[in-house]
Amino acid sequence: MKIVRTVSEVREAVKPGRVGLVPTMGAFHEGHLSLFRAAREECETVVVSLFVNPAQFGPAEDLDRYPRDEARDARLAEDAGVDFLFVPAATEMYPEGFGTWVDVEHSGAEADARPGHFRGVATVCLKLFNIVRPQVAYFGQKDAQQAAVMRRMIRDLDLDLVLRVVPTVRDEDGLALSSRNAYLTRADRERALALPRGLGAGRSAHAQGSDPVAAARASMNGLDPDYVEVIDLDGITVLAAAVRIGATRLIDNVILKGELS
Ligand code: PAJ
Repeated sequence: MKIVRTVSEVREAVKPGRVGLVPTMGAFHEGHLSLFRAAREECETVVVSLFVNPAQFGPAEDLDRYPRDEARDARLAEDAGVDFLFVPAATEMYPEGFGTWVDVEHSGAEADARPGHFRGVATVCLKLFNIVRPQVAYFGQKDAQQAAVMRRMIRDLDLDLVLRVVPTVRDEDGLALSSRNAYLTRADRERALALPRGLGAGRSAHAQGSDPVAAARASMNGLDPDYVEVIDLDGITVLAAAVRIGATRLIDNVILKGELS
């Protein structure tokens, strides 16, 4: 695996062909690795970007304490068969004078809860697509609203690439893997389990014809979710929620109807 740090290095190194790109912010776990493996199976060249994108963090969010360990991430990516790890500096992505932003409108409750977040995500991803020029881009279902924003941007801006959404990887106790789980104490983690439990209850309720949102809220005892909402992801219906455990914000979702392709 080769580590590349500049736009011109990527352009030189990545040859045309079936190129798969997995955008990430590092602190790799099995969720990231499942995206790398899917890309490895389906593409000739696998590029992973590792960039903690300042533009998608709000002023009160965790940009400064976001976990960073490039050496460990590079080992894990190499073991998963990644060909190129693109690790740009912030000044490479946002040089002096940068001022063009992508705004994907009406993106739902997660967008409302984090103003400016998806503008940062969409902008950095469009830049990464233009830099790497992948035929396939891989995203996790874990961040369902993010995948929906990507789908919208790809359609609205006529981007010539395929979006693949890969199923959520969970720990044995049911909590979806997330780089932010590292912030949780043991007691926090116990409380956090009400999130997947509540979503599971919502899914069961939906299967029996009752309201999934009400059922999910009712079984998230002790947690006060930012939102619980049903979203449509191109024919797939998803029940999504966000909760705050102390200073840590966690999101998760389950599929109510349809299958990822
Ligand atoms: P990050 O949180 O590092 O996630 C990178 C990719 O891994 C995303 O597509 C996310 O949905 C996926 N992922 C995270 N946890 C997962 C899990 N438990 N199972 C399956 N996939 C999982 O999402 C971002 O970075 C950024 O917003 C980014 C797209 C890189 C733009 O900066």
